[in-house]
Parts: sequence; structure tokens; C-alpha cells
Amino acid sequence: MYTAGDLRRRRAAVRAALPGRQPHAVPGEARAFASANIALVKYWGKRDEALHLPRTGSLSVSLGPWGSEATLALTRKAAEVWLDGEKLAPGSSFAARALAYLELFRPESGENFVLKTRNTLPTAAGFASSASGFAAIAKALDALFGWDLPERNLSVLARLGSGSAARSLRDGFVEWKCGRKADGSDSYAVALPVAWKTLRIGAVVVERARKPLSSGEAMRRCIATSPFMAAWDKTVRGDLRAAKEAVAKRDLRALGEVAEGNALAMHAVMLAARESVFYPTGASLAALAKVRQLRAEGVPVYATMDAGPNVKLLFEAKSESPVRRAFPDAVVLCPFADKGSRR
Ligand code: PMV
Repeated sequence: MYTAGDLRRRRAAVRAALPGRQPHAVPGEARAFASANIALVKYWGKRDEALHLPRTGSLSVSLGPWGSEATLALTRKAAEVWLDGEKLAPGSSFAARALAYLELFRPESGENFVLKTRNTLPTAAGFASSASGFAAIAKALDALFGWDLPERNLSVLARLGSGSAARSLRDGFVEWKCGRKADGSDSYAVALPVAWKTLRIGAVVVERARKPLSSGEAMRRCIATSPFMAAWDKTVRGDLRAAKEAVAKRDLRALGEVAEGNALAMHAVMLAARESVFYPTGASLAALAKVRQLRAEGVPVYATMDAGPNVKLLFEAKSESPVRRAFPDAVVLCPFADKGSRR
């Protein structure tokens, strides 16, 4: 997956994020939870493949109780990876990815990890379970080894697992700073100091199967072949400014217009790649049409989609009844008021 040179740079990034600390043999296990996040201004494209450094900044909102829990322990036996109660074959894609990541943190005394993860959202169907998964692993490593790292360092470590995981350490609105440095030490996420209690996120699950093409693979193809990639970078910079302004004012219409436009622009970049990358299904398009219909009827609701066919809705508490009527199966989340139901 990574070249020897990539691995050296990844190890150096880990060392830099662990000042005065290192992995060491410890008894017991540690458990941590991280929320999934939905990008309102998307991360699409890496400027550095090995360190998962983005071409632009991005902005997300965390999903409260929907996310991943990771439990980590050390063993003298072979490494194990479990997902939702099932032991995975070491060669399966999630196990291979998780083990390659954990390899960066193995103690010099040679122990292996036993990783047990549990998702409260459909894995790899556009709900960014890799984001909450790697953020939960980074937090569990911190707890297991007793590092007590600053959040900024945890964000850097999570990013080395999956780019969007950098944004899954915090609740609420989170901005992942693009950064400029080659070692990625300035590419981490920060929370925006805004609580928006009436904000609602609706999850319209149209497909639970795994996506056919990983986001990393799709990004690579877009960078190599999509004629819209340069325009995308520029679009994101403007959208990020506008979205932060809308969040500060708690202006749903402004935020929704940016988020929906940004998501569709990202899918346009993919559509123009060769061979084209197209995640939406007929059911996704029907959901997008329903969102427009609702708006035409005066209900302020907006849609976003990630690298998968599922659709997420953005609206306020006052529109909950008509949104639920139009999407009876949608799961409605309150990102700023759902703390009690976590885990
Ligand atoms: O973290 P990755 O490599 O799975 O990329 C996620 C990309 C999107 O979900 C499509 C957008 C985003 O900003 O989360």
C-alpha cells in the first residue's frame, strides 16, 4: 500500500505528534468512542498520499451518537481485528488497513494489537465510518498508552488513518485546516465555537452495501483525469469562507445552499473523471428531487452526499414534521442536543 519512503515519512509524522511519548508494553485494554462526521464543505483530493494531506480545508458537523467505538489491548500472540462482533480475516480490507495503521504504534518490545471496533452506522456506505473508526482508534491508543495528547496531535494521528478522521475528534462544527507544511504538522482540525441547538441532520439510507470504489481510489482517479479538479480547489476555498460565515450566523439557508452546491460540485468532479466515478443510485437521485420539491413547497431543507449513495439532509427543528413525512425512514439526529443517547 505504502512505499518504504512513504512509511518512513508516516513514522516521522507519528514521532513528531508524540513528543516525549512512545508506545510501550501495558496491561489491560482501553476503549474510546468517536462520532462520525458529515462534511458540509468536502475534502476531495490529497496533496500528499502518504500523509493524507488535503489540497484544501474542509468543514464538517459531527453526528453525535452515530460513530465508532474502538477497544485496544496488546497481545503476545497474533494481531486480531474485530468488526461488529466478528473476527476479520487479516487480509480483509478493513483489517489490512487497520493493522497497517496500528503497525505505526507497535511497542519496541514486539507486542501486537487486538482491536475490536463497533459501528453504529452502516460501514463504508457513504457514512464515513472510516473517519469515526480511525478517530476512535487514535483516542484508544492515547488512552491505552496513557499519553494524554493535546487534541491537535490526536487529530494529526487520526488523519494518518483516514483523512476525514482528523475531523472526528470533536463535537459540533469542525474545520480541518489544510496546512502548508510538508510534514503535515499544521494539518489538523479545530472546533468552531458555535452551538446550533435547532440544527437537524437526517440520514436517508438508500443502500447498505459496501461502496464499489474506495474514496482514496476515487480521489486519485479524479486528480489524474478529471478536468474539473482545478476548478474544484477554487470552489472549495470560496465555499469554506461562505460556510463558516453561515455557521457563525446560524443561517440555514446560506449554509444549506453552500453544502448542497459543494456536494454536487464534488460529484460533478467525479462524473467528469475517466472512467467516470458515480456513487448515486436512482434512489439517491429520487431523494435529491424530493428535497427540491420540499423547498419549492417552502420547507427549507438541503442535501449532501459523500462518496456513497446515501443522502443526508440538513434542516432545522421547525421543519422536522414535513421532512419526516417526506422521508419516513430517515433517522433524524440533533448534533447539538443528543449527548444523552451517546453509546
Ligand atoms: O477520509 P476519506 O479518505 O474516506 O475521504 C472522505 C471523503 C468524503 O467523505 C467524500 C468527503 C469528506 O470531507 O468527508
